[in-house]
Amino acid sequence: MSPNNHIKKVAIVGATGTVGKFIVEELLKLGKHEVTAISRKDSPSASSIPAGVKVAAVDYSDESTLVNALKGQEVLIITMSTLAPPDTQLQLIRAAAAANVPYVLPNEWGCDMADEQLGKEILLGNSEVPARKLVEELGKSSWIGVVSGFWYEYSLGMGEQCYGMEVKDKTWTFYDDGETKINSSTWPQSGRAVAKLLSLPIEPETTGGPSLSSYKNKFIYVSSFLVSQKDMFASVLRVTGTKESDWTIKYEDSTKRYQEAQKKVFGGDRTAFPTLLYSRIFYKDGVGNFEARRGGIANDTLGLPKEDLDEATKIGIYRNENGLKYH
Ligand SMILES: NC(=O)c1ccc[n+]([C@@H]2O[C@H](COP(=O)([O-])OP(=O)(O)OC[C@H]3O[C@@H](n4cnc5c(N)ncnc54)[C@H](OP(=O)(O)O)[C@@H]3O)[C@@H](O)[C@H]2O)c1
Repeated sequence: MSPNNHIKKVAIVGATGTVGKFIVEELLKLGKHEVTAISRKDSPSASSIPAGVKVAAVDYSDESTLVNALKGQEVLIITMSTLAPPDTQLQLIRAAAAANVPYVLPNEWGCDMADEQLGKEILLGNSEVPARKLVEELGKSSWIGVVSGFWYEYSLGMGEQCYGMEVKDKTWTFYDDGETKINSSTWPQSGRAVAKLLSLPIEPETTGGPSLSSYKNKFIYVSSFLVSQKDMFASVLRVTGTKESDWTIKYEDSTKRYQEAQKKVFGGDRTAFPTLLYSRIFYKDGVGNFEARRGGIANDTLGLPKEDLDEATKIGIYRNENGLKYH
């Protein structure tokens, strides 16, 4: 194994963020990388950056601070808040090119955005496609898009608008018949996927062996579970010791629900966005089952562990019971 055939220096935006903190945790656990947090100079979470992570404080109004922070880095991971101004990610990508950073993992971390039509329908493509295109146009870096599906414990916890469950009221809204299977990942699995990906040899060390470079300007698909809402429901019954008859079940047509949410979002009601997003991914056309759609996932290549659905469900239930929301 050649020491020069592995990534050493990794920079991350969002080291203390929702998914970023799990990525950092797993990188530190593996202990193969030197991790630098690219963080705003006035970041409210500066004090939570874990020991063992270097900090490069930046000022997005001065692009030279971004370029300086990225000089010598081999990978830039962007887990940027969706609340940040739209140009923020593009600034980072321009700075990564100016600093000759070979790999950028841009804001993805969810749905299968290789499907550009889907990207338009769920609106996320509006920011993600230009980011990937800019990396390619600048020609100095390659992007790798990490597709993990919705975060499982988060989406279960988010309630009716997302995976449909409200624990306190014991109600569940199913899309269509509730049997559509989608890929979904836990936060730790998302973190492990990135840490393992960045531990692959840059170039293959055996003929056809795995390598980071094979994912240049491509998506990598990982998943914890391939589950339907009915599978989640069965898991919740096991975990809570409740019976199906204890719950009030509602079935909604996913297309109708999507269209109604779309009208609201286009009318300026951003609170309907999660309904739009989740309804569309649960369509029966299988866009949420990227495992089938893309002919497999990279879990084995990366050596990702199999996880226990009920353990992840427990966290989702806790989040739902305690009203833990996104931001
Ligand atoms: N799969 C899913 O279910 C799912 C769910 C939600 C989101 N996502 C995706 O995950 C990605 C990351 O989301 P997240 O929730 O992990 O991010 P986050 O925690 O909301 O924010 C990440 C970081 O963004 C930086 N930031 C915040 N506001 C900023 C601003 N105005 N300008 C510049 N930087 C700012 C902060 O870093 P510093 O304070 O260190 O500067 C923060 O720690 C997004 O692409 C989102 O679409 C996926």
